[in-house]
Amino acid sequence: MTTKRAVKAVIPAAGLATRFLPATKAVPKELLPVVDRPVLQYIVEEAAAAGITDVLLVTGRGKTAMVDHFDRRPDVEARLEEKGDQKRLAAVRRSSELADIYTVRQGEALGLGHAVGTAASHVGDNAFAVLLGDEFVEEDKPLLPAMLDLQEKTGGIVLAFMEVAPHETSRYGIASVRTTDDPDVVEVTGLVEKPSPEEAPSNLAVLGRYVLPGSIFDVIADTKPGNGGEIQLTDAMATMLADGVPVHGIVYRGHRYDTGMPLGYLQAVVQLAVQREDLGEEFRAWLTEFVGGWKG
Ligand code: UTP
Repeated sequence: MTTKRAVKAVIPAAGLATRFLPATKAVPKELLPVVDRPVLQYIVEEAAAAGITDVLLVTGRGKTAMVDHFDRRPDVEARLEEKGDQKRLAAVRRSSELADIYTVRQGEALGLGHAVGTAASHVGDNAFAVLLGDEFVEEDKPLLPAMLDLQEKTGGIVLAFMEVAPHETSRYGIASVRTTDDPDVVEVTGLVEKPSPEEAPSNLAVLGRYVLPGSIFDVIADTKPGNGGEIQLTDAMATMLADGVPVHGIVYRGHRYDTGMPLGYLQAVVQLAVQREDLGEEFRAWLTEFVGGWKG
Protein backbone atom coordinates (compact mmCIF):
# COMPACT_ATOMS: atom_id res chain seq x y z
CA MET A 1 0.00 0.00 0.00
CA THR A 2 1.28 3.48 -0.76
CA THR A 3 -0.16 6.81 0.32
CA LYS A 4 0.68 10.46 0.01
CA ARG A 5 3.49 11.68 2.24
CA ALA A 6 2.24 13.44 5.38
CA VAL A 7 2.36 17.23 5.11
CA LYS A 8 0.72 18.25 8.39
CA ALA A 9 1.86 17.94 11.99
CA VAL A 10 -0.22 17.88 15.14
CA ILE A 11 1.32 18.90 18.45
CA PRO A 12 -0.81 17.86 21.41
CA ALA A 13 -0.09 20.42 24.11
CA ALA A 14 -3.28 20.56 26.16
CA GLY A 15 -2.26 18.26 29.01
CA LEU A 16 -2.27 19.31 32.66
CA ALA A 17 1.47 18.76 33.17
CA THR A 18 1.02 17.50 36.70
CA ARG A 19 4.61 16.19 36.92
CA PHE A 20 5.90 19.75 36.69
CA LEU A 21 3.63 21.48 39.19
CA PRO A 22 3.58 24.10 40.56
CA ALA A 23 5.56 25.69 37.68
CA THR A 24 2.83 24.62 35.27
CA LYS A 25 -0.11 26.06 37.20
CA ALA A 26 -0.15 29.14 34.98
CA VAL A 27 2.69 28.51 32.50
CA PRO A 28 2.36 25.64 30.01
CA LYS A 29 5.29 23.19 30.22
CA GLU A 30 5.58 23.54 26.43
CA LEU A 31 6.70 27.16 27.01
CA LEU A 32 9.41 26.48 29.57
CA PRO A 33 12.67 27.83 28.14
CA VAL A 34 15.53 25.56 27.21
CA VAL A 35 18.37 28.12 27.27
CA ASP A 36 16.52 30.89 25.39
CA ARG A 37 13.86 29.15 23.31
CA PRO A 38 10.68 27.55 24.59
CA VAL A 39 10.46 23.75 24.27
CA LEU A 40 7.65 24.16 21.75
CA GLN A 41 9.87 26.10 19.37
CA TYR A 42 12.39 23.23 19.22
CA ILE A 43 9.47 20.98 18.26
CA VAL A 44 8.09 23.27 15.55
CA GLU A 45 11.66 23.63 14.25
CA GLU A 46 11.92 19.83 14.10
CA ALA A 47 8.73 19.67 12.00
CA ALA A 48 9.81 22.54 9.74
CA ALA A 49 13.23 20.94 9.18
CA ALA A 50 11.41 17.82 7.94
CA GLY A 51 9.46 19.95 5.46
CA ILE A 52 6.25 20.17 7.49
CA THR A 53 5.03 23.75 7.71
CA ASP A 54 1.36 23.17 8.51
CA VAL A 55 1.32 22.74 12.27
CA LEU A 56 -1.78 22.29 14.40
CA LEU A 57 -1.37 23.00 18.11
CA VAL A 58 -3.87 21.28 20.37
CA THR A 59 -4.30 23.78 23.18
CA GLY A 60 -6.47 24.16 26.24
CA ARG A 61 -7.24 26.46 29.14
CA GLY A 62 -4.37 28.82 30.04
CA LYS A 63 -2.36 27.87 26.96
CA THR A 64 -2.95 30.79 24.59
CA ALA A 65 0.55 32.23 25.19
CA MET A 66 1.83 29.23 23.20
CA VAL A 67 0.18 30.58 20.08
CA ASP A 68 1.42 34.12 20.75
CA HIS A 69 4.97 32.82 20.64
CA PHE A 70 4.61 32.08 16.92
CA ASP A 71 3.03 35.48 16.15
CA ARG A 72 4.83 38.66 15.07
CA ARG A 73 5.82 41.22 17.76
CA PRO A 74 6.07 44.50 15.79
CA ASP A 75 6.70 46.54 18.98
CA VAL A 76 9.60 44.34 20.09
CA GLU A 77 10.96 44.16 16.54
CA ALA A 78 10.85 47.98 16.21
CA ARG A 79 12.80 48.39 19.47
CA LEU A 80 15.46 45.90 18.40
CA GLU A 81 15.72 47.61 15.02
CA GLU A 82 16.25 50.99 16.76
CA LYS A 83 18.97 49.45 18.88
CA GLY A 84 20.54 47.83 15.83
CA ASP A 85 20.37 44.42 17.52
CA GLN A 86 20.14 42.38 14.32
CA LYS A 87 20.90 39.07 15.99
CA ARG A 88 18.01 39.22 18.44
CA LEU A 89 15.75 40.71 15.77
CA ALA A 90 16.38 37.68 13.56
CA ALA A 91 15.76 35.35 16.51
CA VAL A 92 12.45 37.05 17.37
CA ARG A 93 11.27 36.95 13.76
CA ARG A 94 12.37 33.37 13.27
CA SER A 95 9.65 31.87 15.47
CA SER A 96 6.94 33.60 13.41
CA GLU A 97 8.42 32.40 10.13
CA LEU A 98 8.87 28.70 10.85
CA ALA A 99 5.43 27.38 9.99
CA ASP A 100 1.75 28.17 9.53
CA ILE A 101 0.35 27.64 13.00
CA TYR A 102 -3.25 26.56 13.49
CA THR A 103 -4.97 25.76 16.76
CA VAL A 104 -7.76 23.60 18.03
CA ARG A 105 -9.02 23.41 21.59
CA GLN A 106 -9.23 20.29 23.65
CA GLY A 107 -11.90 21.42 26.15
CA GLU A 108 -10.86 18.87 28.74
CA ALA A 109 -7.62 16.90 29.06
CA LEU A 110 -9.19 13.51 28.29
CA GLY A 111 -6.02 11.84 27.11
CA LEU A 112 -3.53 11.81 24.25
CA GLY A 113 -5.85 9.83 21.95
CA HIS A 114 -8.60 12.35 22.54
CA ALA A 115 -6.18 15.25 21.91
CA VAL A 116 -5.15 13.73 18.57
CA GLY A 117 -8.83 13.17 17.76
CA THR A 118 -9.48 16.93 17.94
CA ALA A 119 -7.31 17.29 14.81
CA ALA A 120 -9.69 15.25 12.61
CA SER A 121 -11.28 18.07 10.62
CA HIS A 122 -7.98 19.94 10.13
CA VAL A 123 -6.12 16.85 8.93
CA GLY A 124 -8.84 15.05 6.95
CA ASP A 125 -8.06 11.66 5.37
CA ASN A 126 -4.33 12.13 4.89
CA ALA A 127 -1.45 10.75 6.86
CA PHE A 128 -0.03 13.17 9.45
CA ALA A 129 2.72 13.45 12.02
CA VAL A 130 2.19 13.76 15.78
CA LEU A 131 4.94 15.39 17.83
CA LEU A 132 4.42 15.40 21.60
CA GLY A 133 4.76 18.87 23.04
CA ASP A 134 7.31 18.11 25.72
CA GLU A 135 10.07 16.22 23.96
CA PHE A 136 12.41 16.77 21.06
CA VAL A 137 15.42 15.19 19.41
CA GLU A 138 18.89 16.36 18.40
CA GLU A 139 18.75 18.94 15.65
CA ASP A 140 21.57 17.36 13.66
CA LYS A 141 20.23 13.80 14.01
CA PRO A 142 16.69 14.21 12.66
CA LEU A 143 14.15 11.43 13.07
CA LEU A 144 11.02 12.64 11.33
CA PRO A 145 12.18 12.45 7.67
CA ALA A 146 12.83 8.69 7.90
CA MET A 147 9.46 8.20 9.62
CA LEU A 148 7.64 10.16 6.89
CA ASP A 149 9.42 8.17 4.14
CA LEU A 150 8.54 4.85 5.77
CA GLN A 151 4.88 5.79 6.31
CA GLU A 152 4.59 6.83 2.68
CA LYS A 153 5.78 3.35 1.73
CA THR A 154 3.69 1.26 4.15
CA GLY A 155 0.55 3.42 4.44
CA GLY A 156 0.31 2.24 8.04
CA ILE A 157 1.46 3.49 11.42
CA VAL A 158 5.07 4.48 12.00
CA LEU A 159 6.41 4.84 15.53
CA ALA A 160 9.81 5.79 16.88
CA PHE A 161 11.71 3.89 19.55
CA MET A 162 14.72 4.44 21.71
CA GLU A 163 16.70 1.70 23.40
CA VAL A 164 16.43 1.85 27.19
CA ALA A 165 18.21 0.00 29.99
CA PRO A 166 16.28 -3.00 31.46
CA HIS A 167 15.53 -1.18 34.74
CA GLU A 168 13.88 1.66 32.79
CA THR A 169 11.20 -0.36 30.94
CA SER A 170 8.61 0.30 33.67
CA ARG A 171 8.60 4.02 32.75
CA TYR A 172 7.67 3.60 29.07
CA GLY A 173 5.45 1.94 26.51
CA ILE A 174 7.53 -1.04 25.27
CA ALA A 175 7.11 -2.78 21.91
CA SER A 176 7.30 -6.40 20.90
CA VAL A 177 8.89 -6.50 17.48
CA ARG A 178 10.20 -8.52 14.57
CA THR A 179 13.42 -7.43 12.95
CA THR A 180 13.56 -6.41 9.28
CA ASP A 181 16.39 -6.24 6.73
CA ASP A 182 17.05 -2.69 7.90
CA PRO A 183 18.71 -2.61 11.36
CA ASP A 184 16.98 0.70 12.13
CA VAL A 185 13.46 -0.50 11.22
CA VAL A 186 11.35 -3.01 13.15
CA GLU A 187 7.92 -4.45 12.55
CA VAL A 188 5.73 -3.95 15.62
CA THR A 189 3.67 -6.91 16.82
CA GLY A 190 2.44 -5.48 20.12
CA LEU A 191 2.79 -2.70 22.69
CA VAL A 192 2.85 -3.07 26.48
CA GLU A 193 2.47 -0.11 28.83
CA LYS A 194 5.19 0.22 31.49
CA PRO A 195 6.20 -3.46 31.90
CA SER A 196 8.61 -4.67 34.59
CA PRO A 197 12.05 -5.72 33.25
CA GLU A 198 10.97 -9.39 33.50
CA GLU A 199 7.80 -8.81 31.50
CA ALA A 200 9.27 -6.42 28.92
CA PRO A 201 9.20 -7.97 25.43
CA SER A 202 12.16 -5.81 24.28
CA ASN A 203 14.19 -2.78 25.31
CA LEU A 204 12.50 -0.54 22.71
CA ALA A 205 10.60 2.33 24.32
CA VAL A 206 8.07 4.49 22.49
CA LEU A 207 9.29 8.01 21.83
CA GLY A 208 6.88 10.94 21.32
CA ARG A 209 6.79 10.94 17.51
CA TYR A 210 4.20 9.15 15.39
CA VAL A 211 3.19 9.19 11.74
CA LEU A 212 -0.39 8.01 11.44
CA PRO A 213 -2.84 7.35 8.64
CA GLY A 214 -5.99 9.55 8.59
CA SER A 215 -8.06 6.41 9.19
CA ILE A 216 -7.04 6.54 12.86
CA PHE A 217 -9.61 9.29 13.53
CA ASP A 218 -12.56 6.89 13.14
CA VAL A 219 -10.81 4.41 15.41
CA ILE A 220 -10.15 7.09 18.07
CA ALA A 221 -13.81 8.11 17.93
CA ASP A 222 -14.72 4.50 18.83
CA THR A 223 -12.04 4.09 21.51
CA LYS A 224 -13.38 3.93 25.06
CA PRO A 225 -11.48 5.49 27.96
CA GLY A 226 -8.75 3.12 29.14
CA ASN A 227 -5.87 3.51 31.57
CA GLY A 228 -6.50 6.42 34.00
CA GLY A 229 -9.94 7.08 32.46
CA GLU A 230 -8.20 8.67 29.45
CA ILE A 231 -8.70 7.94 25.76
CA GLN A 232 -5.34 6.42 24.93
CA LEU A 233 -3.63 6.74 21.55
CA THR A 234 -1.98 3.38 22.28
CA ASP A 235 -5.41 1.70 22.49
CA ALA A 236 -6.46 3.13 19.11
CA MET A 237 -3.17 1.97 17.56
CA ALA A 238 -3.60 -1.50 19.10
CA THR A 239 -7.04 -1.77 17.45
CA MET A 240 -5.53 -0.90 14.08
CA LEU A 241 -2.69 -3.38 14.58
CA ALA A 242 -5.25 -6.11 15.37
CA ASP A 243 -7.15 -5.13 12.20
CA GLY A 244 -4.04 -5.80 10.14
CA VAL A 245 -2.76 -2.25 9.63
CA PRO A 246 1.05 -2.42 9.28
CA VAL A 247 2.87 -0.89 12.24
CA HIS A 248 6.61 -0.21 12.02
CA GLY A 249 9.09 1.56 14.21
CA ILE A 250 12.30 3.44 13.53
CA VAL A 251 14.96 2.93 16.17
CA TYR A 252 16.35 6.35 16.95
CA ARG A 253 20.09 6.41 17.73
CA GLY A 254 20.41 10.07 18.69
CA HIS A 255 19.53 11.80 21.95
CA ARG A 256 15.95 12.54 22.93
CA TYR A 257 15.29 15.39 25.35
CA ASP A 258 12.36 14.83 27.69
CA THR A 259 11.29 18.10 29.27
CA GLY A 260 8.02 16.87 30.81
CA MET A 261 9.43 16.70 34.34
CA PRO A 262 12.09 18.55 36.31
CA LEU A 263 15.02 16.09 35.98
CA GLY A 264 14.72 15.62 32.20
CA TYR A 265 14.18 19.34 31.79
CA LEU A 266 17.33 20.22 33.75
CA GLN A 267 19.35 17.69 31.74
CA ALA A 268 18.07 19.20 28.48
CA VAL A 269 18.99 22.73 29.57
CA VAL A 270 22.54 21.71 30.56
CA GLN A 271 23.12 19.49 27.50
CA LEU A 272 22.03 22.20 25.09
CA ALA A 273 23.71 25.06 26.95
CA VAL A 274 27.15 23.38 26.89
CA GLN A 275 26.85 22.97 23.10
CA ARG A 276 25.92 26.58 22.40
CA GLU A 277 28.44 28.51 20.36
CA ASP A 278 27.72 31.81 22.10
CA LEU A 279 27.73 30.75 25.75
CA GLY A 280 28.94 27.14 25.79
CA GLU A 281 32.58 27.85 26.56
CA GLU A 282 31.86 30.05 29.57
CA PHE A 283 29.10 27.76 30.82
CA ARG A 284 31.30 24.63 30.52
CA ALA A 285 34.05 26.32 32.52
CA TRP A 286 31.58 27.34 35.23
CA LEU A 287 29.94 23.90 35.28
CA THR A 288 33.28 22.09 35.59
CA GLU A 289 34.28 24.31 38.51
CA PHE A 290 30.88 23.95 40.14
CA VAL A 291 30.83 20.15 39.84
CA GLY A 292 34.49 19.92 40.96
CA GLY A 293 33.70 21.89 44.11
CA TRP A 294 30.43 20.08 44.83
CA LYS A 295 30.48 18.58 48.34
CA GLY A 296 26.88 17.27 48.33
P1 UTP B 1 1.89 13.81 28.97
O1 UTP B 1 1.23 12.68 29.65
O2 UTP B 1 3.37 13.86 29.02
O3 UTP B 1 1.38 15.22 29.47
O4 UTP B 1 1.37 13.90 27.47
P2 UTP B 1 0.53 15.66 30.69
O5 UTP B 1 -0.63 14.76 30.93
O6 UTP B 1 0.26 17.10 30.47
O7 UTP B 1 1.63 15.56 31.85
P3 UTP B 1 1.63 14.86 33.29
O8 UTP B 1 1.78 13.37 32.99
O9 UTP B 1 0.35 15.23 33.99
O10 UTP B 1 2.82 15.45 33.95
C1 UTP B 1 2.21 14.12 26.35
C2 UTP B 1 1.73 15.29 25.53
O11 UTP B 1 0.35 15.16 25.22
C3 UTP B 1 -0.37 16.32 25.60
C4 UTP B 1 0.49 17.00 26.67
O12 UTP B 1 0.26 18.40 26.68
C5 UTP B 1 1.91 16.61 26.26
O13 UTP B 1 2.47 17.55 25.38
N1 UTP B 1 -1.72 15.94 26.09
C6 UTP B 1 -1.86 14.97 27.04
C7 UTP B 1 -2.82 16.61 25.59
O14 UTP B 1 -2.71 17.49 24.70
N2 UTP B 1 -4.05 16.30 26.07
C8 UTP B 1 -4.25 15.33 27.02
O15 UTP B 1 -5.42 15.10 27.40
C9 UTP B 1 -3.11 14.66 27.51
